[in-house]
Amino acid sequence: MEKVISGIRPTGNLHLGNYFGAVKSFVQMQNEYQCMFFIADWHSLTTHPTPDNIRNSVRTILSEYLACGIDPEKAPIYVQSDVRPVLELYLYFNMNAYLGELERVTSFKDKARTQPDNVNAGLLTYPTLMAADVLAHKADKVPVGKDQEQNMEMMRLFARRFNRIYGVEYFKEPESYHFSAKAIKVPGLDGSGKMGKSEGNAIYLCDDEATIKKKVMRAVTDGGPTMLNQEKPEPIRNLFTMMEIVSDKQTYDYFNDQYNNMAIRYGDMKKQLAADINAFCAPIRERILQYRADEDYLTRVARQGAERASESAEQTLREVREIIGFRK
Ligand code: TRP
Repeated sequence: MEKVISGIRPTGNLHLGNYFGAVKSFVQMQNEYQCMFFIADWHSLTTHPTPDNIRNSVRTILSEYLACGIDPEKAPIYVQSDVRPVLELYLYFNMNAYLGELERVTSFKDKARTQPDNVNAGLLTYPTLMAADVLAHKADKVPVGKDQEQNMEMMRLFARRFNRIYGVEYFKEPESYHFSAKAIKVPGLDGSGKMGKSEGNAIYLCDDEATIKKKVMRAVTDGGPTMLNQEKPEPIRNLFTMMEIVSDKQTYDYFNDQYNNMAIRYGDMKKQLAADINAFCAPIRERILQYRADEDYLTRVARQGAERASESAEQTLREVREIIGFRK
């Protein structure tokens, strides 16, 4: 079975955009591939060198992924900093990675601009650590969004370069797995664009009913249609798209007809939408709370994941040491 690995930055709670954009695909992939998921806590130090409570954020993310349906029996889930052999591979890749090429990476340039007081070497070598994350397990596929394509290119470059420098055919180049084409794009409800943490318009899986309602009720609308069967402007389209995602077809059709007949009452539609979002989130939210409260279970999941990942990474590192010429 092909191996798939993906890293998750522990930067915030999961929202509906994350769920339908990525996590749902992960949950499906665990049945088709040998998947491993990890929480990239080392990577998070590149932007947050003094994390507020990293252990806490890691455990919250872990609970959320479990609540969404990642099954640790099928797909080990581990914390990056629990698997030390990756660090050693990171060091070797760094020895064969060059300042010029690392400086040209767009996400590095972006970060250098947004955090000019902290242009650290970890930020510069983000792609070598990411390459080590994946190549330590010789994964075949990496599910990533478009924004990670350059990091994937660098990963393949480091794999090829290692083979060339040491005269071996050892690492193969991991493929990007673009599920985003199939994934559902969740809109924001603030008039335009998609749902996102940085957009400030996210509905989180852990939001309670009142919070969901508040967020939906302030969704941007307009004065209503002025013609029969009028094309919907973006804010309204977004409201309907959201309804298509979480409500049943009958509900969607009802409000769509109302719109087309110029009889729509956005307040009613929003109430229904809030209720349907809540109905979708409620079971996930309950599971998040249950997992989050079960520290022992979380410890066990992370430990089991770390054991499986360490085994696989240690095997690679034994071979890599030998290839480079270190004693076994
Ligand atoms: N760079 C990825 C992101 O920002 C996170 C990540 C770190 C990752 N290491 C990885 C993703 C390895 C896939 C494989 O989302």
